[in-house]
Amino acid sequence: MIRVLELFAGIGACSKALTNLGIEHEIVDAVEIDKYAIKSFNAIHGTNFEPQDITTWNKDIKADLIMHGSPCQDFSVAGKNAGGDEGSGTRSSLLYETLRIVENVQPDIVIWENVKNLLSKRHKHNHEAYIQRMSDMGYDSATQILNAKDYGIPQNRERVFTLSIKRGSQLVKSYTRPEPRPLELKLKDILEDDVEERYYLTDEQVASFVASTERAKAKGNGFKFEPFERERERVMHAVLSRAGSRQTDNFIKESSAESKQSTATTSSSASMAQMDARQRSAQCRVATESQKSSHLAAEGSITCNI
Ligand SMILES: C[S@@+](CC[C@H](N)C(=O)[O-])C[C@H]1O[C@@H](n2cnc3c(N)ncnc32)[C@H](O)[C@@H]1O
Repeated sequence: MIRVLELFAGIGACSKALTNLGIEHEIVDAVEIDKYAIKSFNAIHGTNFEPQDITTWNKDIKADLIMHGSPCQDFSVAGKNAGGDEGSGTRSSLLYETLRIVENVQPDIVIWENVKNLLSKRHKHNHEAYIQRMSDMGYDSATQILNAKDYGIPQNRERVFTLSIKRGSQLVKSYTRPEPRPLELKLKDILEDDVEERYYLTDEQVASFVASTERAKAKGNGFKFEPFERERERVMHAVLSRAGSRQTDNFIKESSAESKQSTATTSSSASMAQMDARQRSAQCRVATESQKSSHLAAEGSITCNI
């Protein structure tokens, strides 16, 4: 049984991937500061962890596998690009806490997941520093950009995965890079049918987003309120979330049963913008993607033969 320590555990997508792959494991601890995230983690994995701050975490624990999806906001193109340099105090610099913990726990395997922009010219020195420090601690690392849509999930979500294996490990026999496979699931197969009313945009919100789009268009700016078509799209983009602004989220447009036919003709934001608000609310409902595909995150997986 593999002993797993999840750092920046969130809702525990990494552990869920092990479950999905049928790999027997025990979660020895989940280090997550957000009380709601850890509540979800506990509900999903049947555990009972409390919120914990990684900066003060220092338990004497044995683990074979450490998985960490360290905060990515400061590396992300959706953020302010503040970076993650050690000691900089940014959220992304918390990745260096993982190195401190790896040094103490000495697991056989470490998996780090982050946004693709980590490998950009501006941020890649942090990735290189991580690999170097892992090497100094006796680990060989391999990095690969994987897209969820190549591994059975209808979401266009590229992430950098860095796998580090302790030299001379008795646990790891071999490692094979995961081969892409054809996508069989469609987005509509995975979206929930019954979603609470509070997750739908109000008519006023829809009107305000449409107006913002028109203003942005007039100024030549890029902001676009362009909900996904629930019935048509095969693959969802990654959620772009920025605290305090719903405008950067992705939205799903769905037909109400009685207006399916008319909604089918209103497939672009341009045609939405041409409709008046009353018509629009009668014809479509728009929900936030992050809520509707919440279980997508839990299905995210990395496949490696250990
Ligand atoms: C990119 S998310 C990781 C998502 C996770 N892989 C999952 O499956 O949901 C980063 C997580 O780090 C957590 N975090 C941020 N600062 C932290 C800290 N000081 N200690 C512990 N967790 C922290 C955030 O609350 C967030 O849930």
